[in-house]
Amino acid sequence: MKLPATLPGHIAVIMDGNGRWARRRGLPRKAGHAAGAETFRTIATFCRDIGVRNLTVYALSTENRRLRPGEEVEEIYDLLRRYISESLEKMERDRVRLKFLGDLEPLPGDIREQMERAEKVSARYDGCLCGICVNYGGRDEIVRAARELMHLSSGAETGDVTEDTFSRHLDTAFLPDPDLCIRTGGEWRLSNFMPWQLAYAELFFTDTLWPDFSKKELVSILENYSDRNRRYGGL
Ligand code: IPE
Ligand code: IPE
Ligand code: MG
Repeated sequence: MKLPATLPGHIAVIMDGNGRWARRRGLPRKAGHAAGAETFRTIATFCRDIGVRNLTVYALSTENRRLRPGEEVEEIYDLLRRYISESLEKMERDRVRLKFLGDLEPLPGDIREQMERAEKVSARYDGCLCGICVNYGGRDEIVRAARELMHLSSGAETGDVTEDTFSRHLDTAFLPDPDLCIRTGGEWRLSNFMPWQLAYAELFFTDTLWPDFSKKELVSILENYSDRNRRYGGL
């Protein structure tokens, strides 16, 4: 596959459409989430192969956790358990770094332990850094950052709070802002995904349901991205 000369350093993905993918096949929604997890593995290793430095995906939002039936949330947790344990097995082969973002505190303890282990074991790889957002909400992230900043800096001057210092308290403190955000599943909205970090990202929406998303479609989006003129408010 021929790639464009300019690649984004950081791609963010709203992996939407798993449920509809399953429904169209007469399968339970969890089959769509399982297929979506496979697509994520394929896309993450492809990003590693083509030299994309960072890939961050939206796996479960704060609203999903709060508003979906408990049974579906549990199924997603089970898939996460399976995904992380398979990742631990395949780590030497896949060589992608894993990081988990979001409010992880309310998650079951065993998943948090697995997450910590996966982050620790994969930290030695220098391939694509894959961020997986679980119980993530952009507004929740901003509030958590503000609380942390208030807590840490009693007695500080208001001028000490800058975009830069604030960014350092977000879950993405270790990441550059995404250059490109792709949303699958046909909706044209962010659904509380990285409102701060996507301020100047290029947005791309596709009707493809996440489990059907392919390396080929990613390459065509990368071509579209490389033709865009990013001005950041300048001329
Ligand atoms: C995205 O797929 C994954 C999660 C939100 C967990 P959906 O589950 O939202 O799938 P649709 O939008 O119902 O098809
Ligand atoms: C966004 O999809 C969240 C994830 C992909 C994890 P949703 O399916 O939750 O978004 P809405 O409800 O259609 O806005
Ligand atoms: Mg959806």
